[in-house]
Amino acid sequence: MNKVISGFSKLTKEQKIQWLTDNFLSDTEGGSILKKFWHNDPEFQKVFDGFSENTVSNFPIPLGIAPNFVINDKMYAIPMAIEESSVVAAASSAAKYWMERGGFHAEVLNTQKVGQVHFTWAGAVGNDNHQPLRDFFPELKKTILEETAFLTVNMRNRGGGILDIELVDFTETEDEYYQLRVTFETCDSMGANFINSILEEMGIVLTQFLTSKTSIAPIVVMAILSNYTPQCVVRAWVECDIEDFHDKNAAFYAEKFRKAVRIARIDPYRAVTHNKGIFNGIDAVVLATANDFRAIEACGHAYAARDGQYKSLSQCTIEGNHFKFWLDIPMAVGTVGGLTSLHPLAKLSLDILGNPSAQELMMIIATMGLAQNFAAVRSLVTTGIQKGHMKMHLSNILNHFNCTEEEADKTRQHFDDKTVTFSAVRDYIGQFRKSELV
Ligand code: MEV
Repeated sequence: MNKVISGFSKLTKEQKIQWLTDNFLSDTEGGSILKKFWHNDPEFQKVFDGFSENTVSNFPIPLGIAPNFVINDKMYAIPMAIEESSVVAAASSAAKYWMERGGFHAEVLNTQKVGQVHFTWAGAVGNDNHQPLRDFFPELKKTILEETAFLTVNMRNRGGGILDIELVDFTETEDEYYQLRVTFETCDSMGANFINSILEEMGIVLTQFLTSKTSIAPIVVMAILSNYTPQCVVRAWVECDIEDFHDKNAAFYAEKFRKAVRIARIDPYRAVTHNKGIFNGIDAVVLATANDFRAIEACGHAYAARDGQYKSLSQCTIEGNHFKFWLDIPMAVGTVGGLTSLHPLAKLSLDILGNPSAQELMMIIATMGLAQNFAAVRSLVTTGIQKGHMKMHLSNILNHFNCTEEEADKTRQHFDDKTVTFSAVRDYIGQFRKSELV
């Protein structure tokens, strides 16, 4: 308990690191490592520090580029922020593969966001007018729209705003519990701040309205957007005739591929890993464009379980001679607001993508998810996944031991037909360097 501190946030970064060194770091080296990752331009560092609290350093994640993505006949180079090896390589390989087969196709199916005002109201019986809540609702809805108009004016001018307000009665499951379920169009912004401000205002209007009409005040439990957006969905797909795979075993492998996707539709154990592969691609682009990957993940997994069973988000059919592979996924992202223009690399990522609208970004991200899924399942049903992974793993080990080009080539050749493990590679390099490596 002597490690308790108050006022940590008030310390300078140097003081925070000193306190960490004194209390938690196992050696003094830790402090200088933290400082090594400070940005050498203090202006940039100030920007990063501004994103969060109690910052002591930065945590770098590689930013890679997956080129050759043809989506709806337009060429993209897609930035990906990800620490897992093989993901960018797999995306790039899938991009090139489909570039030669008509490219990727994508379409935004809908763009509605959702927010909720959760409240209890004890006036179902006994209010002055002896009326149930639904009788007041048309007037309440009109009042809410009027009283929140000042908050929605800019968004309405951009073509968005509040789409609808619904009263949901949960009193059969929870005493006196109701909800205003509100749908929004937020154009190019993800909309979280916009939605939350309006919902909080709605809570105030709701309280005033019911109190004045019935003398019974509701209790607003909370007002917050929902990250579940099943009406903000994008579809990405690829398709071609089997002979366009240009492989004498194409029909066999296409069927094996279809079966693998089918297995992920029927078995949740496989579905989770299958969808994880999709999110390898999705999260990387969401992160590179400073969108909220936690929201996208949470929503995607809920959507995958929308029928009551967790399933693959992608699907595959072979009809006659025609192969089709597609992904439907909710995707609440923005290209304005939030960190999109504050984070210098997110701004640059959006620039690399041609400064897309939110809808175009939805299509790019879904395509990346599909490409990643295609690459993973193709490897699984052909060579197995380890071949590619081990190649990257070997590169990381070679870097770890600071191998020269010559040493790296020699080691790669040696392990061409052998299993790569850290200790086997270490021992092999140690042998020809004639020194014991750790
Ligand atoms: C590894 O990060 C992702 C995969 O496991 C996805 C899959 O199995 O489909 C390769």
